[in-house]
Amino acid sequence: MRRPLVAGNWKMHGTRASVAELIKGLRQLALPSGVEVAVLPPCLYINQVVTGLEGKAIAVGAQNCAVEPMQGALTGEISPSQLADAGCSLVLVGHSERRLVLGERDDVLSRKFAAAQSCGLVPLLCVGETLEQRQAGRTLEVVAGQLGSVIEELGAGAFAKAVVAYEPVWAIGTGLTATPQQAQEVHAAIRAQLSAENAEIARGVRILYGGSVKAANAVELFGMPDIDGGLIGGASLNADEFGAICRAAGN
Ligand code: PGA
Repeated sequence: MRRPLVAGNWKMHGTRASVAELIKGLRQLALPSGVEVAVLPPCLYINQVVTGLEGKAIAVGAQNCAVEPMQGALTGEISPSQLADAGCSLVLVGHSERRLVLGERDDVLSRKFAAAQSCGLVPLLCVGETLEQRQAGRTLEVVAGQLGSVIEELGAGAFAKAVVAYEPVWAIGTGLTATPQQAQEVHAAIRAQLSAENAEIARGVRILYGGSVKAANAVELFGMPDIDGGLIGGASLNADEFGAICRAAGN
C-alpha cells in the first residue's frame, strides 16, 4: 500500500507575517493519520516554518536545490546538505515554472535529484506537458522523456526513495484541472515506464497529481488507482482548504 502524500508548494508567496498566520492555521488542522503531509515554503521562511510546526506531523521541504550536494562556492544557491541541516526532508526538482521560466534542463535536474538524495532528502520530480504539447498529442512522449532522462542517468532504483509529481502545465494556476481520467492515464503510463525497469519500485513509488487541485476536486482525483496524493499550489496558501485536501487523500 502506498501512503498518500499531500505537499503544499507555496511558490514565491509569503511574508514573515503571512507565514506566521499560515503556521497558526496549519497547527490547528486535524490531519488524517494515514496521509503524509508536507509544506514547501520559500527558502527564506524554512526556518520559521520548521520552528513553527514543531511537534505537528507536517514535514517541511524546499522548492529547489543546488546541483552540488555540499556547501561551497556557488553564489545564490542553497545546497541540499544545507536544506537537510535546516530541517527539510524533501525538495521539488524540475517544477515546470523552473523548467520553462528559468530554462532548467533534464541533465541539470538529474544532478539535483542525485544531490538531494545523497543528503537524505526525498526528491519530488515534477513532470508535465504544455497545452501545445497536449494538443499535438505528445503528452505521454513528453512525460516519458522527462522521467526517462532521470532513469537513464540514475537508474530506476533511484525511485525507491523519490516521488513523482505529474503536473500538466496548462492546469497549473489556471483553474483548469485535468479530469481524473486524463490524469490517471498519465499516472499509469509513468508507473508502467518505471515498471518496465523495476516492477517492485514502480508499485511502491508515489505519483502525485498537481494542477489546480482544490478541496472540491480532490476526492475524485485521489480516487484514481495511480494517483497517490497531490502537489498543491494556490490552495495550499489557505490552511483550511489545504486541510480539506489532506483529508480527501485519507478517504
Ligand atoms: P496550483 O499549482 O495548485 O496553483 O495549480 C500547482 C503547482 O504548481 O505545484
